[in-house]
Amino acid sequence: MNTEQSKIFTPFTLKNRTLKNRLGVAPMTRMSSVKDSIPRQDVLDFLVRRARNDAAIVYTEAIVTDYESAQGYPGQARLVTQRQIDGWRPVVQAIEQAGALAIMQMFHCGRMSWNEVNPAGRVIAPSAVAPKQNNTLTGAPYPAPDEMSAFDIAHVIKGFAETARGAVAAGFKAIEIHGAHGYLINQFLSSYSNKRSDSFGGSMANRFRFARQVIAAVKKEVPDDIILAFRISNWGIADMEVSLFASAEEWQEMISLIAAEPIDVISVSTYDFRDKAFGTTKNMAQLTREVTDLPIMICGKIHDQDSAEEALLHADIALSGKSTLLNPEWLEDVRAGKSMPPYTSDQANIAYTTEPLP
Ligand SMILES: Cc1cc2nc3c(=O)[nH]c(=O)nc-3n(C[C@H](O)[C@H](O)[C@H](O)COP(=O)(O)O)c2cc1C
Repeated sequence: MNTEQSKIFTPFTLKNRTLKNRLGVAPMTRMSSVKDSIPRQDVLDFLVRRARNDAAIVYTEAIVTDYESAQGYPGQARLVTQRQIDGWRPVVQAIEQAGALAIMQMFHCGRMSWNEVNPAGRVIAPSAVAPKQNNTLTGAPYPAPDEMSAFDIAHVIKGFAETARGAVAAGFKAIEIHGAHGYLINQFLSSYSNKRSDSFGGSMANRFRFARQVIAAVKKEVPDDIILAFRISNWGIADMEVSLFASAEEWQEMISLIAAEPIDVISVSTYDFRDKAFGTTKNMAQLTREVTDLPIMICGKIHDQDSAEEALLHADIALSGKSTLLNPEWLEDVRAGKSMPPYTSDQANIAYTTEPLP
């Protein structure tokens, strides 16, 4: 395709920011924060390099929100102490100087947490139901979580608010609440993991209550010009085959609930953006677009110019994970229309090693 006619390299206005193009680096966990929950220098440098190589958006890895029960993997980052803030500040500055928007993504793993890497050794979730699948890192079953009490809910929400405050102190102009991939917020949203009979369970509106309270607590903590994103998916890292939402109608009801909140952009995560969803003839971005005018980011097997162009038919911004992880020249190659197959998950596992990425 002639890039002159392409939407990929046109600017896009997101709230108060003009993005230089429609391509971004998706959030990618690196498990490199061995000391003090601050990522290894080469991992931070990698993010800056992607900004210098023309990405319009550069996400952080998913940052865990508290010191009790949020962490699911070894070596994850936090952003609540002065040292952590000082660790991130120059990275954010360098990304912004390169003309990209740095977005801090934060999450709590809920029942996907790993008690051995959490300082308090506890696993909590909406309901006392573990994923069916074993933890792929340990090979052992996930422990049965404690059903979250009212105290737990308030405590966890505070962790999101404190991490948002840390992000603002570090200079981030955008923050994403990770409500996807079967982690805690997603566990509340999906009836697959939420069996509660109180006001946090049952109807979609009730299952959304926890997310709403997280959004409200974060919004209260940050200046008005901060861009707030919410990531959502119909799949989880464990029990991957399960459709977390029952139907297109339920998905759209949830999107409408998110859109009614002070959220500036919805990020839809898929295995493959082209997949038709919930037995309809439409993909996830299309179903999302039908019920909201909010900007939409889409992710999942966007690996070359054609796939990016097609993904942008029903979304405003295309995020790439593995292609941006493994190919530093990815944006240039997309611009040139170079033929590039998608990378495999096995190839992406280098992300979790100490081998510096290009
Ligand atoms: C190494 C690696 C780490 C990831 N970590 C995160 C994460 O921290 N947060 C998140 O929302 N998604 C994470 N993902 C998912 C990606 O953001 C993206 O949705 C997924 O890779 C699909 O996009 P792709 O087909 O372009 O790779 C990760 C993916 C990879 C490959």
